[in-house]
Amino acid sequence: MVISKDIIKLVKTYNKANLINILNHIQQKEGFLSEKNIEYISKELSMPMARIYEMASFYSFFSFEKKGKHTIRICNSPSCYMNNSANILKAIEKTIGLKSGEYNNIFDFEIAQCIGCCDESPAMLVDGISYTKLTNAKVIEILNNIKSGKKTKSINYTGKPPGEHAMNILHKTNFMSLKKAKSMSPENIIKKVKKSGLTGRGGAGFSTGLKWEFVNKTGKEGTLICNFDEGEPGTFKDKFIVINNTETLIEGIAIASYALKCRHAYIYMRGEYDYLKGKLQETINSSKKNLDGLEIEIIEGAGAYICGDETSIMNSIEGKAGHPRHKPPYPAQSGLWQTPTAINNVETLINTALLFCEGWNNDSRLFCVSGDVEEGGVFEEKTGLSFKELIGKAKPKEKVKALFLGASGGCIPYDANSCFDYDKIKQKGASLGSCTIIVVDKNTGIVELCKNITAFFVHESCGKCTPCREGNYRILELLEKITSGEGTKQDLLLIEELCDFIKTTSFCPLGQSSCNNLSGALKYFRREFERLCK
Ligand SMILES: Cc1cc2nc3c(=O)[nH]c(=O)nc-3n(C[C@H](O)[C@H](O)[C@H](O)COP(=O)(O)O)c2cc1C
Ligand code: SF4
Ligand code: FES
Repeated sequence: MVISKDIIKLVKTYNKANLINILNHIQQKEGFLSEKNIEYISKELSMPMARIYEMASFYSFFSFEKKGKHTIRICNSPSCYMNNSANILKAIEKTIGLKSGEYNNIFDFEIAQCIGCCDESPAMLVDGISYTKLTNAKVIEILNNIKSGKKTKSINYTGKPPGEHAMNILHKTNFMSLKKAKSMSPENIIKKVKKSGLTGRGGAGFSTGLKWEFVNKTGKEGTLICNFDEGEPGTFKDKFIVINNTETLIEGIAIASYALKCRHAYIYMRGEYDYLKGKLQETINSSKKNLDGLEIEIIEGAGAYICGDETSIMNSIEGKAGHPRHKPPYPAQSGLWQTPTAINNVETLINTALLFCEGWNNDSRLFCVSGDVEEGGVFEEKTGLSFKELIGKAKPKEKVKALFLGASGGCIPYDANSCFDYDKIKQKGASLGSCTIIVVDKNTGIVELCKNITAFFVHESCGKCTPCREGNYRILELLEKITSGEGTKQDLLLIEELCDFIKTTSFCPLGQSSCNNLSGALKYFRREFERLCK
C-alpha cells in the first residue's frame, strides 16, 4: 500500500481525528478517496473503515471512484436559475459531451446548489475556482482552455463594495479593539456586548452577549466556532467580509475567544469557498503576534447545507456526518468535544471588533440582493428602509412582483412602501433572517421557482427524519405534476397539508423552514398555481 508523503504528514498532524480536513485534502489532491487511503487513515486514527465510509458518503464533495481530472459544478439555485443557468448547462453539455451527473477521464460534471456567487449569476466552480456572470461564449472558452491544458484566467468574485459610501463593515480596527478588550475582564466584555444590543447575523437573531454569558457561566474553558458555512441560497455577505476585511474578522474572533476563555477557535468554511482558504490562513498567520497563543483553525466543509446548523457544524468538525444533534444539551452546555461552545456567524464576529469603535450601532445589516436585478450585491443599510429604496439600488430588470427571503425565509409580495423591518416581515408570514433578498420580477414564474427551491431542500435534507426527507420529496413530485399540466386544485390542498406537517414535525430548523417559500407563494400568488391546474 503506497500512501503519498503529504497524506502521511497530514494524518500525523491531526490529533483529534479531524477527518473532514484530511478527506478534503485527499479528495482535492487525488480526485477521490481510494480504499487504500481510507484503510491507512483507519489504521492511523484507530477508527473503523466503516465509520470513515459512513461519514464521507454524507458529503456531496467526496467520491469513492476516480472521476474526471476537472470537476465542473454549475449552480442551479434560484438566482442562477433566474439568470439562465439552464442555457449555460446546455452549453457545457455540448462543449464537453457529457450530461450533468456524468464523467469521462477529463471532466466530472455536476449540478451544484448555491455556490455563494448569486449577485454574479450564473456561476460555476471548476476545480474549486469560481467563474461568474457566465455567457455561453465564456463557458466554451473556459472549458476549451482547460481541455487543451491552457491556463484559464479565473473570474473570481472581487467583492467590490458598491462605491457610493464607505461601508462601516470595512472599517479596519488594526487590533486596537482587541487591545481595549484585553484591558477588561471577560465578564465585562460580555456585559459590554450585551449592552450594545448585538444580535446574531446568522439568521436567528439571538443576543450575542447572552450566548457568551451562558458559556462563561459554566466556569470552564469555552470553544468558539465561527460559522462561515454560508449555504443559504442568495447569501454571500460573509464571503464579502472575508474578502474585504479579514483582519478585523480575526480580531473579532480573538475578542470573542478572550471573553469565552477559549484557546482554540475554529472557522468552519464551506468547501465552495476553498479559493478563500489561502487568504484566511495568511491573515491568521500574520495576526499571530496579536493573538497571545490563541489557535485559530480552519475546517473546510464538503458540500452540505445542513452543516451551517449550529449542532451539525459540531458533528462535522468532530469528523462525523453532519446530522443535527438533539437539544438539550445546548451547545453552550455541552458542544464541540463536550466543551461549552459558542457558534457565531462571520458578520456577528466582525461586529464584536467594530462595536468597540465610536458611533457603532446594531441597526446596520448587510443585505444580499440578487435574482432578477442588473446590479445585485452586498448593501449595508439600516433595517427599516423601504423595499423600493433597497431594491432600487440593485436595479430591477423589470416590474418586481415578489421577494424570496433566501430559500428558507419565505415569499412575500413586492410592495414599494413596505419596509425591511423584522417585525413587519414577520407579520407578512416570512422571516428577514440573515437579510437575504431574492428579487422576482413579472417574467419569472412563481411555481417553477418554488419547484427549484423544493429541489434544493430535497437535495439538502440530511435524511435523519421522515417528514423532511419524504415530505419534501412528495411536494416536489406534486409540483412537477402541476408544472407538467397534470395537477389539480386538490393537489394544492395536499401541498398545503404536507407543508404544515413538515413544518410542525421535522426534527431541525432545516425541515421546519423548508416550506416557508411555498406557504407564502400559495398565500400570495395562488392564481399562478391555479392557472397551471386542470
Ligand atoms: C440548515 C441551517 C443552515 C444554517 N446555515 C448557517 C450559516 O451558513 N451561517 C450561519 O452563520 N448560520 C447558519 N445557520 C444558523 C446557525 O444554526 C446559528 O444560529 C448561527 O450560526 C448562530 O450565529 P449568530 O448567533 O452569530 O447568528 C443555519 C441554520 C440552519 C438550520
Ligand atoms: S429536518 Fe430532519 S431530515 Fe431534515 S435536515 Fe433536519 S434532521 Fe435532517
Ligand atoms: S450562486 Fe447560484 S444561486 Fe447562489
